[in-house]
Amino acid sequence: MKNFSLIDLDQLSEKELKSIIDAAGKIKANPADYMECCHGKIMATLFYEPSTRTQMSFQTAMMRLGGKVVGFSDPGSSSVSKGETLKDTVRIVSAYADIVVIRHPQEGAAYAASLYSRKPVINAGDGGHLHPTQTLTDLVTLSQEKGTLSGLTIGICGDIKNGRTVHSLVKSLSKYDNKFVLISTPELQSPQYIKDILNASGCKYSFCNTLEEAMPYLDVLYMTRIQQERFSSKEEYERQKGVYVLDRAKLSLAKKDLKILHPLPRVDEITNDVDDDPRAKYFQQAEYGMYARMALILNMIEKGQDVIPSKKESTHSVCCANPSCITAHEKYLPHLFRETGDMLVCKYCDDRTLL
Ligand code: CP
Repeated sequence: MKNFSLIDLDQLSEKELKSIIDAAGKIKANPADYMECCHGKIMATLFYEPSTRTQMSFQTAMMRLGGKVVGFSDPGSSSVSKGETLKDTVRIVSAYADIVVIRHPQEGAAYAASLYSRKPVINAGDGGHLHPTQTLTDLVTLSQEKGTLSGLTIGICGDIKNGRTVHSLVKSLSKYDNKFVLISTPELQSPQYIKDILNASGCKYSFCNTLEEAMPYLDVLYMTRIQQERFSSKEEYERQKGVYVLDRAKLSLAKKDLKILHPLPRVDEITNDVDDDPRAKYFQQAEYGMYARMALILNMIEKGQDVIPSKKESTHSVCCANPSCITAHEKYLPHLFRETGDMLVCKYCDDRTLL
């Protein structure tokens, strides 16, 4: 028997995803109806990387469902600081709690945790890889604010290379009939696996260097932060920061019913005077995140089981070449790959290696 862990939104069928999105809307409309749904349940939040929205929205989501929360927001305050492995931490915590939420700086860490957890694991962001509950938040926001998830021209601006929120969002929205405009510098363009997903989906997409060029055509603009923590050097970050700034002048080029989203935190990529424009939806988006996570917790608690993790698949002789992959840091992890054509795709981080 295997626990259901949410590592990537892809694991949910279209029907199940829709039912979670709809449930988030129902919870927002009548929160009092859900106050006791998780009475007696405990959620553990293991945040190896800083967070405001994801951590607190998960915690408040569980509390608003009548459950309780344990965990850490700084691994330095836990036995991780004494050298405890991810595997051991997750084994212990999953014996205490009913559901485990993990954010980690290494790609594939949530998948690694799910191999050793007795309870369902939710990926709350794994390095530059995926951030499925942010995408769930984004889908709930679009569903509530735009009334549809399809037929939209969606501009994505900023760090498309390292932005895990962007990778998860493109994967999900490419399942619907949408067009994408990827607005970034050549250095921060999309990784190949995201282009492969777009190609396979049949969605139209284009690349663009400036916000001004794309603005008049967009139904949704998804702004992102240039993430200093994902660059290998300060010089490289300095070359990229501040290139894209949404201000009132650029907003004047946009459609009247544009919706501006941003996973937040922002640094300087949206000026403060844009906040009062009715098209700015990023603060509401963060609030929708709590309802999205309430709906997800309910779904997973219903499915969750207490299982002793089963024997792992046999390890491959090849190592993942991605230095940010969790397997490069936690050496006991089995080397697990999917074979696609002449490629080996790492099951943790999706990095590709030629066979
Ligand atoms: N959007 C998001 O993940 O924000 P936090 O890093 O504050 O959780």
